[in-house]
Amino acid sequence: MTNFPLPRLDKDPELNKLLLPYCRLKFGEMWTDEQKLHRVACIDACDISAVQKMLGEEKAVLAIQDPPYNFVAFEEHKVERFISWCELWIENTFNALYENSSLYIWLGADQNDNFQPFPQFILMMADSGFNSKSFLTMRNQRGYGTQKNWMAIRQELLFYVKGNPDFYIDAEYTDIPKVLKGYYKKVNGKVTENFERSKSENIRAGNVWIDIQQVFYRMEENVNGCFAQKPLKAIERIIQASSQKGELVMDLFSHSGSTLLAAEKLNRRAFVSDIDPIFCEISIRRLERYRNKGKTGWQNSNPFANEILKDKELKNYLVDKYDIKIPNRIYADNEELIF
Ligand SMILES: C[S@@+](CC[C@H](N)C(=O)[O-])C[C@H]1O[C@@H](n2cnc3c(N)ncnc32)[C@H](O)[C@@H]1O
Repeated sequence: MTNFPLPRLDKDPELNKLLLPYCRLKFGEMWTDEQKLHRVACIDACDISAVQKMLGEEKAVLAIQDPPYNFVAFEEHKVERFISWCELWIENTFNALYENSSLYIWLGADQNDNFQPFPQFILMMADSGFNSKSFLTMRNQRGYGTQKNWMAIRQELLFYVKGNPDFYIDAEYTDIPKVLKGYYKKVNGKVTENFERSKSENIRAGNVWIDIQQVFYRMEENVNGCFAQKPLKAIERIIQASSQKGELVMDLFSHSGSTLLAAEKLNRRAFVSDIDPIFCEISIRRLERYRNKGKTGWQNSNPFANEILKDKELKNYLVDKYDIKIPNRIYADNEELIF
């Protein structure tokens, strides 16, 4: 495994400056994929005309949104400001979706501060035009330990609908085998147990997902530099439950490009955006890497490894500031040398 991580990109403006020349989008620009017509736009999710321009004449059947939760932390009126900000991209999402469509939102809740912004957010959603459908929880196995409280291992996921979209239940089965017999019920006068009644040998995911591993550096899908990457398995489950092949999925906060990649893998089209050109570039590179190498991420290497090896300033910066050991060579997928 190549050991060539990048630090969190959101915490280091200087590193951002050094990486920007390697990004093909500037703020306000859009990349259109020639093969499958996905789109990646470098825009503000709250900008009505920019989001409309990204959609063009099209509408999506599914939106998966993962906003930054705490970007106004420590400011006065932070929750109110966060909610007003959310209202804008929620309205943009509503307008970008078909009459019958689905919306999933990943949202945090600060347990040390009255669980904000969760309650304020769900109240705001009551007037958004969307109807609540489910409150899911994904077990986030990288939770932080504490001796004084329950270990925090949950990740909240809200499911809303606009109109009455289809829900494809087969997508909802996990790879966990059923082990418990029971749940007897009379069907046509005969007592049956759950194994006889069910369609599958495996258990349904339900609205508590315990079978998904949080992304970390040993997993192929890991994208170093990203700090909020959602597991592909979760995004794929959402896409399969709430869209069909060929349909359009959108994500206004693309980051590592998980929605774009999951859509590619499952033969959907995706229109995604991020306000940051570096995350737009990472999203595009991740798609290209998957197509060229069949890999879903960089494991413990990083999306800009080739550039870093060739760019002295960038290389020295990482060595001086983070003491990163720059490998002499990178073995691409253990077979060919990149440089
Ligand atoms: C929590 S991350 C999304 C993670 C993503 N679901 C994934 O799996 O990689 C939030 C992203 O939103 C982007 N962002 C923040 N404010 C934005 C805005 N106003 N418009 C568009 N993107 C924004 C950030 O640059 C960041 O990449």
